[in-house]
Amino acid sequence: MSTVLVLNGPNLGRLGSREPDVYGAANLDDLRAVLVASARDGVNIDLRQTDDEAELIHWLYQAVDERMPVILNPAAFTHYSYALRDAAALVTKAGLPLIEVHISNPHARETFRHTSVVSAIATGVIAGLGFDSYRLALDFVTQP
Ligand code: DQA
Repeated sequence: MSTVLVLNGPNLGRLGSREPDVYGAANLDDLRAVLVASARDGVNIDLRQTDDEAELIHWLYQAVDERMPVILNPAAFTHYSYALRDAAALVTKAGLPLIEVHISNPHARETFRHTSVVSAIATGVIAGLGFDSYRLALDFVTQP
């Protein structure tokens, strides 16, 4: 059984009730169910959420140490956290895929969301497709 880490940053614990016009009405349990249902045989989904930058960074260390691919929605940290970027770079420098995902399309929103400090070190970026952003990332990181 291989495990994919699906990491979600600040305020994503409020999915379902937070700005449903932007993020939809489904919550993180719904997201987990979507990913479990679409995962290839033998793929375990480890979906986590934190509002704490340090915790997110330590989960990225865990991905490196245990050689787990990462699907990362850095949420607002996307736009300014060099600490998170440096930790995410450890994942891709270790030869592991890290896909940056967003539910909304940040480029179609406020100007401060147009910058991602993570994208340049990510394996790839998928944004604006709702939960399909994660589903497509899962398909990519688990392709045979
Ligand atoms: C987000 C977009 C970010 O700009 C925002 O801060 C989030 C969610 C998204 O999934 O669309 O919290 O990452």
